[in-house]
Amino acid sequence: MKKNVLPFGIIAIVGIFAAVIVFYIGVSQKEDIQLAEENDGEEVTEEDGEDGDGETADDPEAIYANSCASCHGDDMSGSVGPDLTAVGGDHSADEIEDIINNGQGSMPPGTAGPEEAEVIADWLSEMK
Ligand code: HEC
Repeated sequence: MKKNVLPFGIIAIVGIFAAVIVFYIGVSQKEDIQLAEENDGEEVTEEDGEDGDGETADDPEAIYANSCASCHGDDMSGSVGPDLTAVGGDHSADEIEDIINNGQGSMPPGTAGPEEAEVIADWLSEMK
């Protein structure tokens, strides 16, 4: 009897591990979605959010976190969209601004407002 129990025990343990992994993936995706949703709220940033209703934040990192991280990853290493950690090597600030305003491939246009696009394009063009 004991002998037959062992394989089931192993299967159960593997199953529990699989469930835990799926759970953590779910939690991290939920955080991404919440980050994306916060973009619709009025409080834009921790530091520069005091500008008032709908005002443009001028902190590129905050704009990135609100408008871009959902697709390009919290650390710019890419997820749905490509890695942006060295984007300044491939694109000038004007090109990046153009990509944000007009979209490119499967990236939709207008993920940030025109003024935000300018601020963040300058910042990203320094990433080489
Ligand atoms: C809805 C998801 C999504 C969001 C939000 C998004 N992007 Fe993208 N982005 C993409 C995808 C997908 C691509 C690849 C497009 C292609 O097919 O060339 C891309 C490409 C880019 C590129 C070109 C990279 C290259 O090497 O050619 C830049 C620059 C860029 N995004 C910047 C931004 C910035 C800045 C923001 C925030 C203002 C942003 N993106 C928000 C999905 C997104």
